[in-house]
Parts: sequence; structure tokens; C-alpha cells
Amino acid sequence: MSKQTDDFFKNVISHAKEYGFVFPSSEIYDGLSAVYDYGQLGAELKNNLKTYWWKAMVQLHENIVGIDAAIFMHPTTWKASGHIDGFNDPMIDNKDSKKRYRADQLIEDKIARYETDGKTEKAQRLQTDLNSALNDDDLPRLKVIIEEHNIVCPMSGTKNWTDVRQFNLMFSTQMGASAEGADTVYLRPETAQGIFVNFLNVQKSGRMKIPFGIAQIGKAFRNEVIARQFIMRMREFEQMEMQFFVRPGTELEWYGKWKETRLKWHLALGGEQTKYRYHDHVKLAHYANAAVDIEYDFPFGFKEVEGIHSRTDFDLSQHQKFSGKKLQYFDPEINQNYVPYVIETSIGLDRLFLTVLCNSFEEQDLSTEDKQDSRSVLHFHPTLAPIKAAILPLTKKDGLPDKAREILSRLKMDYNVQYDEKDSIGKRYRRQDAIGTPCCITVDYQSLEDDTVTLRHRDSMEQERVAAVDLEKIIGDLVGWKNLLGAL
Ligand code: GAP
Repeated sequence: MSKQTDDFFKNVISHAKEYGFVFPSSEIYDGLSAVYDYGQLGAELKNNLKTYWWKAMVQLHENIVGIDAAIFMHPTTWKASGHIDGFNDPMIDNKDSKKRYRADQLIEDKIARYETDGKTEKAQRLQTDLNSALNDDDLPRLKVIIEEHNIVCPMSGTKNWTDVRQFNLMFSTQMGASAEGADTVYLRPETAQGIFVNFLNVQKSGRMKIPFGIAQIGKAFRNEVIARQFIMRMREFEQMEMQFFVRPGTELEWYGKWKETRLKWHLALGGEQTKYRYHDHVKLAHYANAAVDIEYDFPFGFKEVEGIHSRTDFDLSQHQKFSGKKLQYFDPEINQNYVPYVIETSIGLDRLFLTVLCNSFEEQDLSTEDKQDSRSVLHFHPTLAPIKAAILPLTKKDGLPDKAREILSRLKMDYNVQYDEKDSIGKRYRRQDAIGTPCCITVDYQSLEDDTVTLRHRDSMEQERVAAVDLEKIIGDLVGWKNLLGAL
């Protein structure tokens, strides 16, 4: 990361904390690594992002329905899905610092350093070595690479490493009143399995015909060995996943459609096209016949925000095998029973939140020849903004607050609006810019005479005089969901 992008990212993180978007979890106890809380504005933004996804996936598609499955699932679910045996990261400990690292990430950091130092060939060779060790699950080889490239522990500075071991990323706990006889259950590491085990329930109760999809938003938990980059890699996070069930043989056509549809959804948020790219997987998981990541250009480089996977009939077949229950569909068009194939779209809500923060945050220099001036602004899409409008009486007297509160009580029925009478009007505008409020409504002395107000726009900072009676419509036109959904 260059100094400039590093500073930008630090400013995004401190802005998010200062204005109530994201706080470190249990901060008064010095926080909990890789766990974060969303504050009063962060919760609103997150809810709006969930609504955007839900409306785009469920409301706009006649053949997609949404569910809300429990976080705890029968332990056999995770045996069937392969998570108990295979959901691992290669981990290594430094014996001096007692710190634990992901072996592959230590090597990736070394590759990045070679690249920064202009040692491109060395970086490429190391990348090839790493890929082949990971592909072969060759843990001793990972240790040899670490030693050969003199990779030291960032804390102790020594090379006193343990062997590389596999570390399962699932959190487990006990279900039942007494530890004796209690069953080990897992905090789900993905929401997808809650969809697969409910495939027949939804298909039958909803009389769904293939092709159809089941969508879900919910928490997932992974005991990530290395947590970094703010809310990018967390131990408790939220996923928005959709499994689309199709007739075998049609899956690659649907995969292509979903790949396109999902990128369009990201672009509708207003970010530059060059900030997004596809990363097609060359090496596929054993159950997939196509997979791609949608990556966003974060301040620390292009990273995955969403995955689209053609998962064949792997998951349903596994659950069929482990449960002994048939998970098949009778297709009346071809008069056949089959286990459907699945296209999955899986996006991390917290990573999406971070793309929106990074895309929106700007520190603007507004200085003129006579005066130094600047503002921090979040250019959220108006539909996503936590607060849709702020209502500001010019002064605290002469009936202006009453008039402003009258407007507030009308608008709050439909929109999340805020009242603010503290400080100068200029300072109040700046506060609203900093939290991304698309417009401010100022009530002044003229308002008492002719029932008009000043409408001040966040991005252009332009002001116009409008009739108070038109405010519901003006705000509705500015922040309505069709502004986002219409672009899809
Ligand atoms: N069901 C498929 C699945 O879970 P994944 O690539 O492991 O696939 C999907 O995860 C998405 O979930 C990722 O693209 C990412 O946005 C998000 N995600 C995964 N691990 C995460 C973590 N530790 N913290 C935040 N988001 C995460």
C-alpha cells in the first residue's frame, strides 16, 4: 500500500468510528480481535444494503424466495458439506513470540515485498511454488518455503517456527444442559447449508418449479487465524447468499447469467467500473465446474467481495447421502427425477459495506483565495444513506424550531430524518455531509411567511427554495428504491 492509500484507509477507519458507523467490539476491554460492532449509522447503512440485495434478488425475481434458517444446525450437516474434514487453513506458530500465522499469508507478504523491491521474477517463482504447495496440500513444503526465503516472525524477528498444521476454522460449542452427553454443535461458517437442507421444504411448500432460487441473509462465523484490514476479514460476519437450482446440463448457461447480473448489481451502487473486476478461478474446488470472484479495488488492492460458483449437485447429493432422504425434483417438462444442479452467489455484507465506505469517502479541499476550508463527505447513493434528510431551523427561537419539527413529524413517517438545531448552520451542514445525508432542509424566517424552505444538496452544495408541502415528493424522488433497482 502506498503512503497515500495507507493514509486514505486509516482516515476511512477513523471516520467510521468518529461518526458512529463501526466500532471495535467491546472496546472498553481493549477490543476483541477481528470482531466489530456497527454503530447507530453503520446499522442503518447495513440495513439499507441488505434491503438493496433482498429487493434485487427476491422482490425482482418471481422465481426466488427468501428464508431465515437457524445458525445452529445438526452436526451431520457439516460432515456432509465437507467442513469438518476440509475447512482448514495451514497454520504455523513462532516459538519465540508464541504468535500464530497463516503460512500461506506469510509467504504472500514476502511475495508482496519482493514486488515492492522490484524483484519481479523472484516474486513470480515464489508465487508458483506457493500455488503448487497449496494445490498438493503439501504442508512440509510450505515450511521449507518459509525457511528458504528467510521469512521471520513480524513480532520476534526470529525464524524459530513450528511445523505447519491444518487448523479448522469452525467454532464449536456444546448443546444441552450438561456437558456430559452434550453434542458438539458448530456456529455455521456459511449460510448456504441452511438453504440446502431446506431445499425440499421450500420447493414443496412454495410449489417452486425449476429453475428457482432460495436466498438468505445471516451471520456466519470463522475462526480466522489472521484477522486484518478492518472489517475485511472478521471472525463474525454476515453473508447474503442465494442458491439457484437448475436442471443438470443448463448450469453453465445460468452461471454466465448470474455472473453478469451480479456485477451489474455492484455497478449500480455508483462506483467506477474500473474499480471492479472478475477473477476467474483456474483451479476449481472438487465439487465446482466453474467459479469466479467479483473483486473490488480496495486501498490495499483488488480483493474478493463476492463469489459465484457452479457447485454441480455436490451439496444436495451429499445431504441425500448423509441424511438418507431423497433430495430430488420431478421435472414435468422432461418427465424425470433428478438432483438439481446449483449456481451460488455469495457476497459478504461487511466487505460490501467496506466497498461503499471506500467508494464514498472524500476529503474535499474547498479553499478559496481568501479562505482555507475543507470538508469530509460520504457520497453515498441517496437510497442507501443512513439519514435521508436533516431538518434544521436557522435559529433556536421565533417559532423556527416549531415549524421545523412540524416538517420532521410529517417526513419521519416515511423516511429516516434527523432534527438538529445546535451550532451554526454551516457546521450543521458539514456534520450532515460527513455522515452522507443527501440533503438538508433549512427552515428560516421566510418559511414562516410563505411556507417555503431551503433545500441544500450534499454533493453540489447548491441550494434551492422549495415549497414545504412538496418535501415528501422531493425526498421520495431522491431516495426511492427505484433509483437503484431501476438500473438493474
Ligand atoms: N457459501 C460459499 C462461501 O461461503 P466464501 O468465498 O468462503 O464462499 C463468500 O465466502 C463471501 O463471504 C466472500 O466473498 C466474502 O465476501 C465473505 N467472507 C468470507 N469470509 C469472510 C470473513 N472472514 N470476513 C468477512 N467476510 C467474509
